[in-house]
Amino acid sequence: MSDITAPSTELASLAAEFDAADELAALRARFVLDDAVYLDGNSLGALPASVPGRLADVVHREWGEMRIRSWDESGWWTAPERIGDRIAPLVGAAPGQIVVGDSTSVNVFKAVVAAVRMADEGSGSGDGRRDEILVDATTFPTDGYLAESAARMTGRTLRPVTPAEVPAALGDRTAAVLLNHVDYRSGRLHDLPALTAAVHEAGAYAVWDLCHSAGALPVDLDEHGVDLAVGCTYKYLNGGPGSPAYLYVRRDLQPRFDSPLPGWTSHAAPFAMDPAYQPAAGAPRGRVGTPDILSMLALEAALDVWGGGGDGGSAGAGVTIESVRAKSLALTDFFLRCVSAYVPEGRVESITPVAHAERGSQIALRCDDAGDVMKRLIHQGVIGDFRHPDVLRFGFTPLYVTFADTERAARVLGETLGEMG
Ligand SMILES: Cc1ncc(COP(=O)(O)O)c(C=O)c1O
Repeated sequence: MSDITAPSTELASLAAEFDAADELAALRARFVLDDAVYLDGNSLGALPASVPGRLADVVHREWGEMRIRSWDESGWWTAPERIGDRIAPLVGAAPGQIVVGDSTSVNVFKAVVAAVRMADEGSGSGDGRRDEILVDATTFPTDGYLAESAARMTGRTLRPVTPAEVPAALGDRTAAVLLNHVDYRSGRLHDLPALTAAVHEAGAYAVWDLCHSAGALPVDLDEHGVDLAVGCTYKYLNGGPGSPAYLYVRRDLQPRFDSPLPGWTSHAAPFAMDPAYQPAAGAPRGRVGTPDILSMLALEAALDVWGGGGDGGSAGAGVTIESVRAKSLALTDFFLRCVSAYVPEGRVESITPVAHAERGSQIALRCDDAGDVMKRLIHQGVIGDFRHPDVLRFGFTPLYVTFADTERAARVLGETLGEMG
């Protein structure tokens, strides 16, 4: 352990070296940030500088002047699919499979019910039907609540199991499995390719929650044959508070996607005002009601940081998800190194896996007085968050977090814990 009252010049100069070599360093200037170290982008991403001007234009010109014409002339009506196609390359999906709208919670419900209905097609409604839904027992609570309701509605039994227990729990009773790519509390990255393959081997459907992975690491939905996926856009995609979520339905499953929320905007001809429901083809089938245009267009502007509009969003500025992942791992490695140098031995315990293959883009430290510790850190300009009962979470958004931020956060943590005893 080093002297915690003195910054380690070695670590501080290493941070400066890493920042100088960081190929993503210039992106930080595209966000509105201040002197604080912002390590809460896994909860609410920072504001991209392009958003306020774009939103002002949407409000004053598109709404204020063009009014109802904007549904067509400003492209409001097709925004859910258009923005879905901007997210697609970030999660390894070809265009036409993602629709933006509603919250993650609502999309979890749509996806799980639709997955069970797909399973029903294969197993019928008699004795042989698949009567179980598996859900990640460690999930963010909303997924568990919604899976429970989906199970009740479809006459299934919900069986909570940890992701590690999923392979053994799968069988010919399994209809669908709802899993998280990265655990919201521990930051553990689950093995999406292997678990998806196991779910398929059992003849069931895999639904993935990408809230804590999209925008932080490669997901490769198409490559791994994921059936359905959902995610939020206000964390690593920086879409803003309550920005709309998204739903991915693999292209070949789209004709079989039977939404439990078939609102009028998912109709094949919404303006025909047909009393009989006819689902739209493709991704729009996942829509429900009128899109939330202000939030949606703020998200669209936020996605410009990945490479501007019109090019599919992946390449223009040279920001690839692979380069983001490389920096994310370098930042979290460096943070763990700084924590072990600055923090008194035994005072915190990392619950985030050390292995890169099992680590998302956050570090979670267990500490008895985590609530008080985080309050003090925030007071000193290091913004992470606290998860009940004893977890300090530090999220690393590679688009704007620096290695100097990382060294400072660990140093302030060490000083704070040293003072608290
Ligand atoms: C893994 C996960 N799923 C779902 C949600 C909830 O999403 P929403 O509030 O958009 O419905 C969150 C929110 O943080 C989350 O972390």
